[in-house]
Formats: sequence, C-alpha cells, structure tokens
Amino acid sequence: MAVSDDATRLAETRLVTAGRDTTAQKGFVNPPVVRGSTVLYSTADDLHAHRGEFQYGRHGTPTTKALQQALIALEGPNCAGVGIAPSGVAAITTALLAILKSGDHLLVCDNVYRPTRLFCNGMLARYGVETTYFDPLIGSEIAGLFRSNTRAVIVEAPGSQSFEMPDIPAIANVAHQCGALVVDDNTWATPYFHRSLDQGVDISIQAATKYIGGHSDIMFGTVSANAKAWPMIADAIRQLGVCAGPDDVFLALRGLRTLAVRLEHHQRSGLDIANWLAARPEVRRVLHPAMSHDPGHAIWKRDFTGASGLFSIVLKEAPQRAVDALLDTVKLFGMGYSWGGFESLIIPFDCTSYRTATKWAPGGPALRLHIGLENVEDLKADLAAGFDAFNATLR
Ligand SMILES: Cc1ncc(COP(=O)(O)O)c(C=O)c1O
Repeated sequence: MAVSDDATRLAETRLVTAGRDTTAQKGFVNPPVVRGSTVLYSTADDLHAHRGEFQYGRHGTPTTKALQQALIALEGPNCAGVGIAPSGVAAITTALLAILKSGDHLLVCDNVYRPTRLFCNGMLARYGVETTYFDPLIGSEIAGLFRSNTRAVIVEAPGSQSFEMPDIPAIANVAHQCGALVVDDNTWATPYFHRSLDQGVDISIQAATKYIGGHSDIMFGTVSANAKAWPMIADAIRQLGVCAGPDDVFLALRGLRTLAVRLEHHQRSGLDIANWLAARPEVRRVLHPAMSHDPGHAIWKRDFTGASGLFSIVLKEAPQRAVDALLDTVKLFGMGYSWGGFESLIIPFDCTSYRTATKWAPGGPALRLHIGLENVEDLKADLAAGFDAFNATLR
C-alpha cells in the first residue's frame, strides 16, 4: 500500500475531531439533528441585513455545518467548500449543471457510473451540451480530444465495475492547460484513501450513500470543490434548491466518524479475498488496482493511499446457468447494487451495450463483489460453496 504514514495519521484523527464544537453543542459530542425551515431574526435590523449564522433551512443548519466542516478537513487544504445533495447522482448532476452551459463540450471517461452517462446523453444533450467519451487509459493523449468549447472532463478512478485506473494528474494537467475543469467521482476510494483535490481535480464527488454512510441506510451525496469551482457549485446548489433531510445529514456524519476503521477492514478483507479468488481455477482474472498484476497498479500506488472493498472478477467461459447457480448458493453475499455498507454483495455485470469509446470483452462472465465486514474465512467458505454449485452444473 502506498501509504504516507503522516497523511493517514492526520486523516484518522481528523475523521474523529473535525466539525465538532462541544461548546455550541452544550457539551455533547455530536451535533443535534436540527429540523428546520424557518430561522428567526432578533431585530428588524438583523432581518434587513440577513445577519445571522443561519438564515434558512435549505441553506444550512448546525447539523449540515458540522458535516461540511468535517469533510473539508478530510479533503485537505485545496478544499474551499463541500455541498450536500440528496444522493450521489444528485451530487453529480448538480456539479455538471453548475459548470456547463448550452454550446459547451464535455469529455467523459468511458468507465463512468452509468447514470452519469445517462444524464450526459439525456438532459445535458437536451440543454445543448455535447459529450465525447474517452478511453480511461488515455492519459495525456486526451489533449487530442479537446475543442475550443471543452469546459469539463469527468473521471472515475477506478471505474466502479471494470476498475480501469485513469491517470488523473496527467488528464488534469492537459485539462487545465485547455481551460477546462476536472470532475472526479471519488466514491470508490473516498477522500480517506484518495485526496483527489490535491491531484488536480477541481470538483470531487462522493456518493456518500456508500462508504461515508457505511450502513446501507441513507441516500446521500457530497460535492467538494477547490477555490476555482466552489463559487459555481455554491451558486448552483442555491439556485437548484438542493439539500438533504436532517436525519440523513446526521447519519452521514456518524458514518464519517468510523470511516477509517471500516475502510481499513474492507481493504484488508477485500485484498485477502481477491488473492484467494485469483488462485481459483474458475477465475480468469481479478480486476483490483491494488493487486500488483493489475494494469492500473502503478497509478494506484502513486496516487492512492489504500483500496476499498469493491472489485470485480472475470470467470472462465461458462453458461449463465452456472453463474446463476453460484449466485443462488452464496448466503453471505447478497445480490444488490448499492455497495459501501457493512455487508458483502455480489452482482453480475456486462458493460458491452453502453461502452462507446472502448470495447468491453473480458473473455467470460463478470461479477462485481463488495467485501463487507463479515469474518473473511466465512466469506471464502460462502464463495467456495458457490463455486461448488457452479461446477456441479458443468458436470
Ligand atoms: C461510482 C458511483 N457513483 C455514484 C453513484 C450514485 O450514488 P447514489 O446511489 O447515492 O445516487 C453510485 C451508486 O452506485 C456509484 O457506484
């Protein structure tokens, strides 16, 4: 692991301490769940001047402030502000609406989360923004795709199904020379394992539904931005009326406090199971950037301080009934999409129909696994039972 010990120490402590104001919280460790629309002003003068720390429920409460301060501290000195959204997708769409206008051109990594793609091809296209998809491994050759009207580049490192690892610093370098902003969906690593704003990214998105919430019980999104992008993000959030419910804000902050221990566990068990899977005769390839054989390993090692618990495998060619037998046999691995909680998950996936800049041809059925916090030997035994059922269908 490419851990800078100092950076990890700092992040671990910040996750626990940042955004806490025990005096304002009357001694309590956690902020209250403030439910509020109306904020009252003390005097007519205050009202006329809009004077007061909080002015309207949609624009922030003591609960949202605590979460935002904690996230700003975690993102590091290049973070000028963090916006809150009711889901990861809402965070992405708000960021794009903030920085694009009719007539603009957008470059999007071909391994991007599919609903991001649907927004670019749907609503953004309808509003006159043109999108070009690019090979995640393009690096600085992305220069050839820029036009005079290219305003932004979206990256996802690694892609959350296929796990290619774009070279974000190289892409950001070119984007900035061309006057474009870089947006990163940093959900896989979180700012605990990848401080994307330190690597040339202007806007870093979290589907906080995943690891920040960490318990599969909220929908939530955050948009962290540097000083160049933050005024545009803050303005869009205000104009669009984007906000989140107070219980979810509180749960996001509560999840954040234990992010380090959970992620270290997801990483350890994830790599253990990934290595175990790599030695299984049924597995053709493991797609995990923290494994030394992975094509994205050098970039991961350079830019990330750890890996979360989400990765994919490609099985050797097998009929669908064999894959379904595996899926129907495993008990600890649930079949579900929203990863990042405490539980293990498995889903089949196939990117063939929606890739446009690259071809998805893995050479066998692909499965994505999320390794949760269960005992790792129990998880291996569960998968082994799944492979027994898989093999039984082939006899
Ligand atoms: C990489 C990535 N980004 C964004 C999202 C969207 O998050 P949400 O479900 O909170 O809208 C997801 C959800 O699966 C995701 O995997």
